[in-house]
Amino acid sequence: MTHLHSQPLPHLLLALTLATAALTVHAADTTPAQQLQRFSTEAGAPGQADKGRVLFTTRHGGEWSCASCHGQLPVAAGKHASTGKAVDALAPAFNPQAFTDTAKVDKWFRRNCKDVMQRECTAAEKADVLAWLITLKR
Ligand code: HEC
Repeated sequence: MTHLHSQPLPHLLLALTLATAALTVHAADTTPAQQLQRFSTEAGAPGQADKGRVLFTTRHGGEWSCASCHGQLPVAAGKHASTGKAVDALAPAFNPQAFTDTAKVDKWFRRNCKDVMQRECTAAEKADVLAWLITLKR
């Protein structure tokens, strides 16, 4: 009996591991509203859409603004300022994938804020940007 099960089991485990890894790549573990709630709670104040728009469209002493890659109104695919590659629309109403993966949200906020503002964004700034993005409707 035991030797019947001893062979297939490692293969099953491997298959499960691979399947889990594949799922993790595109994990939809959150919603834009939940992310806004997360940043607002962390900041201790609700996000302010007007401030988010200003942050997004102005340069902060460097070469780029957020809009340089995402567009002034990020409701359509943008164009990466240095590579020219397409960047998916950032406003959730125009991109169902946006803000649905916590790890992706954190990774890109970290990277992009450093590129544009030479530092990470605060929770309040992230709440402001997301509050603005959520106001952009079709
Ligand atoms: C140099 C180009 C560039 C700049 C400047 C830039 N971004 Fe991005 N951003 C990207 C790319 C590329 C992605 C990945 C998009 C994709 O998956 O198509 C991204 C993704 C994101 C995401 C993740 C969205 C999601 O799908 O959950 C957030 C949030 C974001 N950017 C915010 C910002 C903010 C805020 C700024 C300004 C502080 C900014 N970005 C500036 C290139 C840029």
